[in-house]
Amino acid sequence: MINRQWRLASRPQGAVNRSNFDYAETQVLASPDTGGKVLLRTEMLLCMPTIRNFISGKRSDYYPTIELGEPIMSPGVGRVVESSDSDYPVGTRLVGGSSWQDYQWVDPEQGYRVVPNDTPSVDALGILGMNALTAYFGVVEVGQPQSGETLLVSGAAGSVGSIAAQIGRIRGARVIGICGGSEKVNWLKDSCGIAEVIDYKAQDVGVALDALCPDGVDVFFDNIGGTMLRDIVQRMRRHGRIALCGQIATYDDAADNPPLDMMRIIYGAIRLQGFLVPDFADQMPQALERLSEWDRQGLLAHREDVRAGFEALPDTFASLFNGSNNGTLIARIADEESRPI
Ligand SMILES: NC(=O)c1ccc[n+]([C@@H]2O[C@H](COP(=O)([O-])OP(=O)(O)OC[C@H]3O[C@@H](n4cnc5c(N)ncnc54)[C@H](OP(=O)(O)O)[C@@H]3O)[C@@H](O)[C@H]2O)c1
Repeated sequence: MINRQWRLASRPQGAVNRSNFDYAETQVLASPDTGGKVLLRTEMLLCMPTIRNFISGKRSDYYPTIELGEPIMSPGVGRVVESSDSDYPVGTRLVGGSSWQDYQWVDPEQGYRVVPNDTPSVDALGILGMNALTAYFGVVEVGQPQSGETLLVSGAAGSVGSIAAQIGRIRGARVIGICGGSEKVNWLKDSCGIAEVIDYKAQDVGVALDALCPDGVDVFFDNIGGTMLRDIVQRMRRHGRIALCGQIATYDDAADNPPLDMMRIIYGAIRLQGFLVPDFADQMPQALERLSEWDRQGLLAHREDVRAGFEALPDTFASLFNGSNNGTLIARIADEESRPI
């Protein structure tokens, strides 16, 4: 069996592009090399901005580095096509660590969840996926906006941001979203019920915030970082909280990371807190239950931008950094019967 792969060819300088990846075809290993118990056929891959950090070559002991020549790691949904573990028979779908290739041997006990039969793969990566959980924990556990407080969300029309903004709305906060472009502004207003939205491509965020909330912001859910974060720190209320979710504006160039006014943070008694979903692993079942319930009740608008085709993967991924994705960006590389598309 042929296994298509996209491997890291070069480390991007600035914006990521197709030339940073090499297409290759290998034979699928007939049996696992390192402890894999099931052979997964990748169906869908979640395009995740932090992959840009993994391929940057900046060494860190807190996130993985993808080496040149290696397939690109990514969350995904795969279907078991061979199994030596009766708990995970052929046909089972698993969501968890995947990579930009058709097949891989994995141990289902290491970082995977079974996708229930009644959950579409798109939902396992979307409204019940890692990004929605990130939004949930970032709002409910980290930012903790209370009813009547102001919650500001950057990247508000994106996969994480749109769910974060709506959970804030459900909690009774006054939510202000920031995103780029009128289509996204309108979707947030009309479909997500976020009445106040700043278009950072058309407006100065600081000026707009001064007009909308002259008394400042209680909670800021930050997906973007960079100069936007710097300007918002200046507008936080005393005892404000900043949930640091992502810093996508700085992934291409760390120099886009301006210093924050630390004295403002000290005198404002502002709490900045980064977080990852695994920090809240013990609360995952409850979070998934609440997300499902809100979804069933029609309280959470969500959209998935599903792009078909393995060949297009590098270009699909690059969409995250020019804002041309509309919602959770998913690459579909096999059809429901696990045939490659
Ligand atoms: N902490 C965690 O566990 C965790 C988990 C998942 C994701 N994240 C982070 O959450 C953030 C959002 O991720 P996502 O997967 O939901 O992606 P997304 O928001 O669906 O897509 C990325 C969006 O970021 C905006 N963007 C890209 N480059 C930008 C720039 N230079 N300046 C301003 N905006 C820019 C674009 O929206 P506009 O069109 O509005 O500009 C783009 O559509 C990322 O920073 C990601 O790394 C963190």
